[in-house]
Amino acid sequence: MATLDRALVFIGFMGAGKTTAAYQVADALGVDALDSDALLEERLGHSIAEEFARNGEEAFRAKEEELVCELLATAGPGDVTALGGGSVLSERVCAALEPHLTVLLEVDVEVAWKRANGVSRPLSRDRDAFAMLYEERRPLYEELADAFLPPDLRSITNVAEASTHPASGTPSVAVRALPALRALAVAPAGTRLLWATAESGEYPVFIGSGLLANGGWSDAMWPMDRSVSRGWCVSDETVAALHAPPPDAVEALVRIPPGERHKTLATAERVWHELVADGMTRADHVVALGGGVVGDLAGFCAATYQRGVPIVHVPTTLVAQVDSAYGGKTGVDLPEAKNYVGAYHQPAGVLVDPDTLVTLPLAELAAGWVEVLKTALIAGGALWERVSLASGCDGDERTILDCARTKLAIVAADERDAGHRQVLNLGHTVGHAIETVTGYARYRHGEAVGLGLLAALRLSGADALRGQMRELLLARGLPVTLDGTGVGIEEIVAATIRDKKRVGAGSSAPFVLVDAPGEVRIGCHVPRDELSAAVAELA
Ligand SMILES: NC(=O)c1ccc[n+]([C@@H]2O[C@H](COP(=O)([O-])OP(=O)(O)OC[C@H]3O[C@@H](n4cnc5c(N)ncnc54)[C@H](O)[C@@H]3O)[C@@H](O)[C@H]2O)c1
Repeated sequence: MATLDRALVFIGFMGAGKTTAAYQVADALGVDALDSDALLEERLGHSIAEEFARNGEEAFRAKEEELVCELLATAGPGDVTALGGGSVLSERVCAALEPHLTVLLEVDVEVAWKRANGVSRPLSRDRDAFAMLYEERRPLYEELADAFLPPDLRSITNVAEASTHPASGTPSVAVRALPALRALAVAPAGTRLLWATAESGEYPVFIGSGLLANGGWSDAMWPMDRSVSRGWCVSDETVAALHAPPPDAVEALVRIPPGERHKTLATAERVWHELVADGMTRADHVVALGGGVVGDLAGFCAATYQRGVPIVHVPTTLVAQVDSAYGGKTGVDLPEAKNYVGAYHQPAGVLVDPDTLVTLPLAELAAGWVEVLKTALIAGGALWERVSLASGCDGDERTILDCARTKLAIVAADERDAGHRQVLNLGHTVGHAIETVTGYARYRHGEAVGLGLLAALRLSGADALRGQMRELLLARGLPVTLDGTGVGIEEIVAATIRDKKRVGAGSSAPFVLVDAPGEVRIGCHVPRDELSAAVAELA
């Protein structure tokens, strides 16, 4: 297998499977893997546990720093190294990582504990101390990572087994992500890779400012092999005029009119006809270039054209960059209800360039910020703190990355909305109803979701949080009432009850309610009079 343009360095908490990943990747590349823990034990002449016992952690860290800096100074393109979990606590080590591709192997704390406890690791003897250390180190790993590989339950689960046969076991996520890591090695500086997983498939998400102008459309970075699959780009007229792909990147450009009113079966049919007329085959792929409307519609066309062709998303609105481009939900609206016809169809890849937001009108940016607020409310913690304090609504790279990671983690656990994924519908039950009864023309999607969030917080009895959300929306010029729509409360309530999330005849749509940022409950049924009161409050 061809080598990489940079050295790969695996970092992460103990028990993440760094050694296994490094050995498997090195095996695939035909090189030898280096494991800093093993090399240090060789140099010390005894185990790390013994070094801790004899000389203490400080002495160990000094020796570890020395060795890791030596390894990183000599690592060249294509080399593969696994670092000890705590080695990145050293500033010298962090600086030495700079030229290399740093790959974070994420691991759930419970899984890490099961793997590490009982193996002779000096820092995995006390469960509470282990969990504290995990939380302490997490932000540091995330700061350093160029690539984020999510917890991989399919691969080897036992570190003891891994250390006897480092390259054995089910191929690790790092091996499956190798083509994407190769692409990341040639991406513009600062680009990050998220590896997205779902039951029906895995795909790379590249996020970086300037990505599209600096190689994002090139064969080296493109998630599909263009020698066997040609791309048909679907975009709306506005986006096509501003951000069209280079002519050699796609076979043809299919333009649709912009706006939610055109997210219809009629537009989908037009696209299908153009694809047929242009000679697109099932070996080819669709490229969705635009906001959530283009992504949902082109995704639906891709899911159904010749029973399904791959799609690559290139999102250009904040809504799409923080939310709609990930997770595989595609579809169109019916006059009766929003997103009523659609399919799950995971992308083959997503390329996110926050620079495309420069041309996005401020009102669209503000509407997109509502999806940021929703995601942050679901995630809680540092993301909510940062977002709820932010004064503007810039789609900065860190916020986009954190929102994308939040969504991808939810989808990885529940691709088809059977359970936890329903948290992502927070604010959408009433929001979709408002969009439907106003003919998909009065409010932007994000604006309607903002109103839906206020209703959901009222239904949650979270009055202080509702007040805070109202201020956050007002500060960005977003609507907090239904002023001037002329739509009746009961019309919205009826449309809410018709929401497609309901199951069974006569039932109503379950709500997502919020106890506090980060504490969100799904499947909550609310009495009709309470729903009417929450919607009436918006009027
Ligand atoms: N599939 C999902 O998981 C999911 C999640 C959230 C939202 N959605 C869907 O997303 C849609 C809303 O997405 P949206 O807000 O991106 O709407 P949109 O696609 O209609 O884009 C908004 C407007 O911005 C313009 N635009 C897009 N990119 C631009 C750019 N870079 N510069 C200048 N103008 C640009 C478009 O032409 C359009 O007029 C809704 O239909 C919603 O249902 C889907």
